[in-house]
Amino acid sequence: MSKTYNIAVIPGDGTGPEVVAEGLKVLNAVAAREGFKFDLTHFDFGGERYLKTGETITDSAIEDLRKFDSIFLGAIGHPDVKPGILETGILLKIRFSLDQYINLRPVKLYPNVETPLKDKGPEHIDFVVIRENTGGIYTGHGGATRTGTPDEIATQLMVYDRRTVDRCLKYAFGLKKKRNAVNKKYAEKPITLIHKRNVLTHCGDLWYRAFEEMGAKEFPELKRDYNHVDAANMWFVKNPEWFDVAVTENLFGDIITDLGAMIQGGLGVASGGNINPEGVSMFEPMGGSAPKYAGRKVINPMAAIGAAMMMLDTLGEVKASQAVETAMTSTMQKMKSQTAGQMGMSTSEVGDMVAGLL
Ligand code: IPM
Ligand code: MN
Repeated sequence: MSKTYNIAVIPGDGTGPEVVAEGLKVLNAVAAREGFKFDLTHFDFGGERYLKTGETITDSAIEDLRKFDSIFLGAIGHPDVKPGILETGILLKIRFSLDQYINLRPVKLYPNVETPLKDKGPEHIDFVVIRENTGGIYTGHGGATRTGTPDEIATQLMVYDRRTVDRCLKYAFGLKKKRNAVNKKYAEKPITLIHKRNVLTHCGDLWYRAFEEMGAKEFPELKRDYNHVDAANMWFVKNPEWFDVAVTENLFGDIITDLGAMIQGGLGVASGGNINPEGVSMFEPMGGSAPKYAGRKVINPMAAIGAAMMMLDTLGEVKASQAVETAMTSTMQKMKSQTAGQMGMSTSEVGDMVAGLL
C-alpha cells in the first residue's frame, strides 16, 4: 500500500487560496510520480471567518492540527480586521501551541530571478536563516500602565531561557553539518550567530555563550562566526556570499528574513517553514494576503510551491522535494518576472507548468 500523508490546509485570506491551490497541484503531481498520496483536510481560519463568527482559531482546532503530518498555510490578514488580531490569534497561536520553535527561511536566488543587488547572482545568494520562533519579544511578557496619560509606560521584554536557545542552536548546527556534507561550497563557510550582544548584554550573552559552548563541544569541525544584527543587515546586501547558515533570535530573525526575501527576488519566491522537529510543522509562502491582487489571477504562486517543496523535505520525501525544486527552477527561467502581474503567465499557468514538468 502506498504511503498517505495527512495534511491540514489553511488557505486563509486574500490571495492565500489562489497560491495554495497551485501548491497543492504540484504536491499531487509529485506524489503521483513518486508513488505516495496526500489526504487533505481544509480549514477555513482567517479574516472572513473571524468577521462572521468572532473566532480566530479555536482550541479544539489546535488539538485537531496536532494529528496531521504537516500543515500547509496560505496567508492570514484581512483589510477589515484590526492589525494584531489574526496574527496573534491564528498564526502565532499555531506556532506557539504546536511548539514550532524553528522558523526556517532559505534565502536562495534561482537563475533568471532578478535581485536588486547589483553584481550578485545565484552563486552569491544561497543561504538559510534559522529564526528562533517561540521566544524573545514574541512571548508578550510586559505590559502597559497609565495608558492614555502623559505618563504612560509600556514594556515588552526579550525573554530567553537556556533550553529554548539550546534547542534552536542544536537544529542550526545540525543543519549546517548536513549542508556541509552535500556541498563543498557550503563547507567553506561558517555558521553565523546573529545578535546584538554589544547592547543586549544579557540575552546576547546567553545566546553567544550557548553558541560557543555547543559549537566547541558538539560540533568542533564547524567554523563559527558572529555578527551584530545591524552589521548582518549590511553584509546581507554587500556580501551575501559570506553566509551559509545564520541563526538568530525571534525578532531579529523576523526583520532580517524580510531583507533576505528581497535579495532572493521578492515575496513572490520567498518560502518559510515553522518547524517542530519532533512534532507538526507548518509551511507558508512569506508574502501576505495581498488583498489588492486577490481574484485577479496575477499573484505568483512560486513561494507557495517552494513551501510545498520544503514540506516534502521535512516529511522525508527528499527525492520528491528535489524534483519539485528542479521543476520550479525551469519554470522560473520561462517566466518574465517573479513580480505579481508581470510574470507573463497567470497564477494557474505557473502551477500548471511546474506540475507538468513532474
Ligand atoms: C512572519 C510575519 C509574522 C511574524 C507576523 C504576521 C505575526 O511577519 O512570519 O515573519 O512577525 O512572525
Ligand atoms: Mn515577518
